[in-house]
Parts: sequence; structure tokens; C-alpha cells
Amino acid sequence: MRLIPLNSSPEVGQWAARYIVDAINKFAPTAERPFVLGLPTGGTPLTAYKALIALYNAGEVSFANVVTFNMDEYVGLEPSHPESYYSFMHNNFFSHVDIQEQNINLLNGLAEDLEAECQRFEDKIKSYGQINLFMGGVGVDGHIAFNEPGSSLSSRTRVKTLTPDTLIANSRFFDNDINQVPKLALTIGVATLLDAKEVLILITGHNKAQALQAAVEGSVNHLWTVTALQLHQKAILACDAPSTMEL
Ligand code: GLP
Repeated sequence: MRLIPLNSSPEVGQWAARYIVDAINKFAPTAERPFVLGLPTGGTPLTAYKALIALYNAGEVSFANVVTFNMDEYVGLEPSHPESYYSFMHNNFFSHVDIQEQNINLLNGLAEDLEAECQRFEDKIKSYGQINLFMGGVGVDGHIAFNEPGSSLSSRTRVKTLTPDTLIANSRFFDNDINQVPKLALTIGVATLLDAKEVLILITGHNKAQALQAAVEGSVNHLWTVTALQLHQKAILACDAPSTMEL
């Protein structure tokens, strides 16, 4: 595991964006051989999306031959809901770059058969062979995507009940009203993430210090699912100074 300690959240975003752009350009994707990129939502990756858009506007990268898979989505929110991850991704990234709509893959939290939807997503990932690079964030309790404490480290894409801690943390996006936060989500599994060729996790803020400590110094366990990164051959943790306080 590589730990990249940086000063601030904007620096983490810029570092991540540069890493992703270099990876895409090195791969030299074509329509027949696209670069497959896994993406997260949340407050942490916002600086990375801003930096990616800036690099795109500077002509340093094209997303025309990039296929994306998002980590997770709430169950029951219309895509047009301002807090759906569909809206988040379009507002903060997709609408600002040259990605093709048919290359965007998001879980459908309104699917009638949620299990079938999760299987469809896994099958779609497999149809590309492997995700080249999966960027992610981490929850205060060390969860990756929505793999809440206690998730199997062999888990695949599935429906997950959100913990009270996650409902409280995410209520800031829902008028600080925990009752408005969806109680269920669709999420890639820990094993789905570990299958990616490279994993790049961004960790910022003092409230993530325990999660970073678990990821770096803790033993692999299903209560802090971020620790599963220790099993990956090419995992990077890019973090800011406040998040390193417990190391
Ligand atoms: C949610 C998402 C995670 C994200 C986490 C942290 O639970 N499902 O993918 O990493 O929030 O979000 P933030 O970056 O806003 O702290």
C-alpha cells in the first residue's frame, strides 16, 4: 500500500486528478479498448473532480473513451433528486467533460428487482474484464462505498442497510434531517473493489483520522472495511495532514 501524505484537501484532489489523467493517457484508450474508471461520490472527491475538469479544460485529457462505474447509489431516490448520486455525478463531473452518456454506469436504486440490478452491474463490469482504476472515499467508521461495518470482505454488489452513523453523517445533505436519508443503498462489494487493477482512496479531514489509522496500522477486519485494501497489490491512500493525526 502506498501512503501519499499531502497538506490539504485541494492538494489531495489535485494529486488524484493528475494520477488519474496520467493513467488514462498512458493507457491510450480507444473506443474498442476503453479505460474503465470506478468513481465515488461524497464531499471528499469534490476537489478531485474540480481538478479533473481543469485538466480536461486545459486539453490534457479526454474522457471520450473512458467508461465509468459508480460505487453506490441510494435506494428509492429519483435520478433527478438533487441528492441522488446520479445528480451528484452529472452536476460535479460528467456534465463538464466529454464523457459519452452510454459509457456512464450507475446503479439504479429504483429498479423493481434490486438483486437483479446488482447482478447486472457486476456482469457489466466483468464484460470489460477489469476496472483499471477505482477511486474511492471512506466513511468516518472506515466504510468503503456503502460496505458498512460488518460487511463481508468477499462481498459483491448488493443491497445494504445503512447504519445509524452513516444516516447521521449523510443527513447533512438532506436538510440535517435523518428521516429524509434513504435507509437502503446499492453498493459494490469489498471484493468488487479489490478486483480493480488499482485502487486510489482519498482521505481528508480530522474526522477520518481513525479510519486512516485502521487502514494503515490496523489488522484486516470486517468492522473497518477500508482495511481490506491491505490485501490489494496496488492500493494508494492519498490523505491530507489532519487525517494523519492518529498515525
Ligand atoms: C458515503 C459514501 C462513501 C463515501 C462516504 C464518505 O457513505 N457511500 O462512498 O466515501 O460517504 O463521504 P464524504 O467524502 O462526504 O465524507
